[in-house]
Amino acid sequence: MKYRKFGRTNWEVSEIGYGMWGMGGWTGSDDTESMQSLQMAVNMGCNFFDSAWGYGAGKSESLLGDLLRANCRKKLYTATKIPPKNFKWPSRRDYSLDDCFPPDHIEEYVEMSLTNAGLNSYDLMQLHTWEDSWLEDDRWINKLQDMKSKGMFRAIGISLNRWEPWNGIKAVKSGLIDSVQVIYNIFDQNPKDELFPACREHDVAVIARVPFDEGSLTGNLSNDSEWPEGDWRNTYFVPENLASSVEHANRLKPIVPEGMTMPEMALRFILAEPTVGTIIPGMRKPHHVKENIAASDAGPLDPELLKKLEEHRWDRDPTEWSQ
Ligand SMILES: NC(=O)c1ccc[n+]([C@@H]2O[C@H](COP(=O)([O-])OP(=O)(O)OC[C@H]3O[C@@H](n4cnc5c(N)ncnc54)[C@H](OP(=O)(O)O)[C@@H]3O)[C@@H](O)[C@H]2O)c1
Repeated sequence: MKYRKFGRTNWEVSEIGYGMWGMGGWTGSDDTESMQSLQMAVNMGCNFFDSAWGYGAGKSESLLGDLLRANCRKKLYTATKIPPKNFKWPSRRDYSLDDCFPPDHIEEYVEMSLTNAGLNSYDLMQLHTWEDSWLEDDRWINKLQDMKSKGMFRAIGISLNRWEPWNGIKAVKSGLIDSVQVIYNIFDQNPKDELFPACREHDVAVIARVPFDEGSLTGNLSNDSEWPEGDWRNTYFVPENLASSVEHANRLKPIVPEGMTMPEMALRFILAEPTVGTIIPGMRKPHHVKENIAASDAGPLDPELLKKLEEHRWDRDPTEWSQ
């Protein structure tokens, strides 16, 4: 495993971090298998774990706490997120700060997240949705800075809405935040346009999330894919999105080099972007952990393949199902 500097913090985070949404809320999760996967990741050098209150109403935070207690001699970086008060993802332009992150709500959920994990402190506290217009009202940052000064967390971040990397650039330029979490993968290359240059200029750490486009970039989805009732993916991969996602993924299959898998290609594409501090694939199975972490040692893809993959950029606009 290789490590990268996490923005202006002095943290050295693993290039492959860990996304903990699936194990908290997707159907088919098995806690024993999830804990085995987490432990295998630690053993292989992964040290950055992304959780949220919203991942099973504190469930993934509780698994994260267990992982920390089982590895108390190792420095593992813990990140979590405060849900918006209206519990609506993504945020929309007409949601106000009071709808989503009034100070008393921030305080309540930071305390809850600490209790869920059984920890005294997190490394990174993120707002789970974001609107750049909220910068006009400093109550959110005053509350977060106050809690940070009390040692409840060490750094402050935001997580941007799907397909809206522009809606965070002002926050990056404000100097108020330490990290930004954004979707960046073979399809969603638009953070490179403006967000990443701003992050480099202001030394804001980038967490690249959803490296597999929720599954299509693993190459394992088909037009017949379906999930058990209640699984979030049924609401994202609606027929219209499933068909076009599978079509776009199928176009990639002929260019996967011999001996490489599509998930490996997806991760090594992201590794080629130096602005990214850590990538957080969602993983619940030990064999996925093993394969994904191996991508760090294999390193970024060669320039020729990267050039070909740049042509697979797929710019999308948020819709009612895109969340
Ligand atoms: N708004 C936000 O802030 C927000 C939104 C979405 C996600 N996130 C964060 O980003 C993380 C990653 O996103 P995600 O989990 O939604 O999607 P993702 O990482 O794009 O895809 C996860 C899916 O890929 C599968 N997978 C992982 N490695 C694989 C491999 N080597 N081969 C085949 N399949 C593989 C996983 O299977 P298994 O689970 O069965 O191993 C899971 O079904 C989340 O866990 C969460 O921490 C944040």
